[in-house]
Order: sequence, then C-alpha cells, then structure tokens
Amino acid sequence: GGEEELAARPPVVTVMGHVDHGKTKLLDALRKSNVAGGEAGGITQSIGAYQVATEVDDQERKITFIDTPGHEAFTAMRARGAKSTDIAVLVVAADDGVMPQTIEALNHAQAADLPIVVAVNKIDKEGADPTKVRGQLTEYGLVPEEYGGDTIFVDVSAITGVGLDELLEAIVLTADAALDLRANPEMDAQGVAIEAHLDKGRGPVATVLVQRGTLHVGDSIVAGPAHGRVRALLNDSGENVTEAPPSMPVQVLGLTAVPGAGDSFIVVDDDRTARQIADKREARARMAAQAAGAR
Ligand code: GTP
Ligand code: NA
Ligand code: MG
Repeated sequence: GGEEELAARPPVVTVMGHVDHGKTKLLDALRKSNVAGGEAGGITQSIGAYQVATEVDDQERKITFIDTPGHEAFTAMRARGAKSTDIAVLVVAADDGVMPQTIEALNHAQAADLPIVVAVNKIDKEGADPTKVRGQLTEYGLVPEEYGGDTIFVDVSAITGVGLDELLEAIVLTADAALDLRANPEMDAQGVAIEAHLDKGRGPVATVLVQRGTLHVGDSIVAGPAHGRVRALLNDSGENVTEAPPSMPVQVLGLTAVPGAGDSFIVVDDDRTARQIADKREARARMAAQAAGAR
C-alpha cells in the first residue's frame, strides 16, 4: 500500500529582476490585465500570483507566475519568491542592462537551485541592446544557448507583445526537460501563504499557493498561527471557485487572523483540530518571544 497517485501539475515560476525592468507589465501582457497601471508610484510592493494558459504542441498548458518586487527594499520578498517555486524568469530591460537587483535576483534563484530563463525585455525601446545583456550575464555564469551555454534567453516586449509566445514556450520546455512536476491532487491540501492582509469588508484575506492536494470551500485550515474554515476561494481574476488543485494560487476567505507571508498552510480534519494546532503555534510563538525578551 501507500502508493500515491501523482498527477502532472503546472510549473510555478517566479518572476524577478531589477526595479522597473517590466516584470508586472510582462505578466499583464501575458494575462491581458492591468495590474501595473494600478500600482502606487508604479512600484510593486507585494507578491502577486497568477495563472496563464498557453498551448504547446496542441496541448493546453498552465503556468503559475509569482510576481516579485524589484525595489531594493524588498530583498526578503524576492528571497521568499524564489523558494517553493520551480523556475525563475529573470527579467532584464534591454535599455538598462544588468543592474544590482538583477544580480541579487540571480543569486536567490541560484541559491534555490532553480532553472533560469532570461527574458530580455523592452526590446522595442531605442537604445535596447539585447546582445550586451547576453554578454553581461555570461560573466555571471548564465551563458546563452546560442553561445554554447544552456540558458534560454528570449527577447520580449511587454508593450508590443513580441516574444511572449516564445517566452511561454521556453518555460514549458524548461519544465518538461529539467523537472518532474507532479503532485497528488486527492489528498488534503498543503501549501504556502504568499501574501495576506486584513480587508475591511471581508476580514483576513490570504493568497495561498496550493502545493499538494486540493483545497476546497468548507475545508478546515491552519495557516501559520491563523485558522478557520474556508468560506470562499477566489481565483486570480477575483472569481469564486469551489476548489484549487496543485499549483493554483487562490485567495482564501474565512481565516480568523492574518497569517504571515511565507507561512505554510495545511488542511485538517475539523475546526476543533485547526483551532488546537493554531493555539499551540501561538503559545509557542509567545514563549519564544518571552525567552527572547528575557535574554
Ligand atoms: P517593480 O515591480 O516596481 O520592480 O517594477 P516592474 O519590473 O514590475 O516594472 P513595471 O512592469 O512596473 O514597468 C516599469 C515601466 O516600464 C512602466 O512604465 C512600463 O510601462 C514600462 N515597460 C515595461 N515593459 C516595457 C516594454 O517592453 N517596453 C517599454 N517601452 N516599456 C516597458
Ligand atoms: Na515598477
Ligand atoms: Mg512590478
């Protein structure tokens, strides 16, 4: 016994790079949305998660994207974004070239042992020099395939849309070639909270990434020190869904408190168990805080 039924799951891709090199705009272009347009000061300040469907060899393939901020203040979010993902897309603006957070992002991806696809963005701009970007990254060990290395570089523009299909194809190819992406969709869900906040009307709202199993409305859940029963699940378009399979990012309503970004979540048998686990975690956190205070 004990045979697990594993099924293919979409790759989870973290999008990283220097501030304003076009990460959010690129995801907007892929999903035909306008997240970038609504950001204060045009700066991403939290992690976002989206799913894109594409067709490769006549098959529909989904890709889950985690958008990370590029501003230098958000190192922790970039490090977290690199964890629990499968592939990194490193976005480099072709007019600006390799910059400090490009290198920082590259270091996070390499520390997490992620295959890296380079998206050379803004090639529509005057002064864009995608060849220079290739040369710069070669010095950091990312050698383009066309130079005899094994890193795929794709020239793209989030504004004109050029190269976007090639980028999706490169991601799917990388997933198929380098990774065995399977999970058991039948078990109780487990995963990680990507972002969480308190919403005035809806209470605690957590964006979680389901890593194993399937999360359902009505499930009893523990997320970090928070617990609750899932009252509603919303997909990345804000639509209600009844369940979320492996690799799907979803907003969870019904938690009693706001979990921390990066906290893991699990589904348990019933509300009582959820509350007990959450209480224990809280007591442990309190004791740790007291011990730290006594030192
Ligand atoms: P942070 O998340 O704050 O690090 O920024 P980001 O990397 O997500 O960049 P964002 O998507 O906010 O884009 C920054 C600016 O570059 C915006 O003004 C975009 O319109 C512009 N931009 C993004 N991609 C392209 C592109 O391919 N071509 C041109 N011309 N402009 C682009
Ligand atoms: Na920006
Ligand atoms: Mg952004």
